[in-house]
Amino acid sequence: MTEDVPEREARAFELANGDNIFVTQRDGVFYAYKNVCPHLQVELEFLENQFLDQDQEYIECSTHGALFEVETGACIAGPCSGEFLQKIAITVHSDGGIYLS
Ligand code: FES
Repeated sequence: MTEDVPEREARAFELANGDNIFVTQRDGVFYAYKNVCPHLQVELEFLENQFLDQDQEYIECSTHGALFEVETGACIAGPCSGEFLQKIAITVHSDGGIYLS
């Protein structure tokens, strides 16, 4: 549900197929990515739901500090510069539910 993911915060979810993803909100738009860093294929967060950097501006990998744009998933700094997080297509329904599209 959208209320579970406040602006500039992120929440982890597990899909029915076992994939771990996270959802974050930026300027009222929701974005979802697979919870896998393109650098070493490890999960991004160290603390629960801690997917953003200190300023809550970028998605950050806790292992080597790679930074990713929230809107595109592009790595803009760190060892995987130029690579992308794997985006998950979602739609937000009028009931506030977030669904895979
Ligand atoms: S594993 Fe994510 S930056 Fe190295």
